[in-house]
Amino acid sequence: MQALQLGLQIDSDALSASIRKELAEQLQADPSGRSSQLLNDPAVTMKLIQAGAVIGMAPKGDKAGVSCALCHTMTDASVFKSSNGGSIGHRLDGLANHSLNIGAIFATAANSRALYPILQLSLRANKGKYQVDVP
Ligand code: HEC
Repeated sequence: MQALQLGLQIDSDALSASIRKELAEQLQADPSGRSSQLLNDPAVTMKLIQAGAVIGMAPKGDKAGVSCALCHTMTDASVFKSSNGGSIGHRLDGLANHSLNIGAIFATAANSRALYPILQLSLRANKGKYQVDVP
């Protein structure tokens, strides 16, 4: 649910038939997804990333990179659509994902400082406080 709230898209065709069936049952019981065990289990999120079902997240061991599809693919939301625009459904490649919150996605990283070089930012201590420089 957190990933969907951040605007990420999930490819329903990359889910196993058993997961698809279980998810459909849980969403039928509660269309908001709030009580869905599958949608609220971080271990399931990891499995989805590793299965390549989280569109634009490229798994590599216990890490994940991003591909162009992160920002350039949507789904048809045929399975689920979260209030913030994240969705589960068939891939629709080439569309812009206007609901992505990149800053919030980076902020969920275990070590978001590791992302500073990618963002062309540096962190320096200044009188006991940290300050971000934009070169
Ligand atoms: C972090 C999000 C993000 C990622 C990742 C990303 N893009 Fe984009 N892309 C954008 C945004 C936002 C725009 C629109 C920029 C603008 O209009 O100023 C854009 C615009 C484009 C355009 C221009 C489209 C047009 O009609 O003018 C192309 C082509 C494109 N991206 C290709 C790619 C490719 C290829 C990759 C992977 C190598 C990629 N993008 C990765 C966000 C992203």
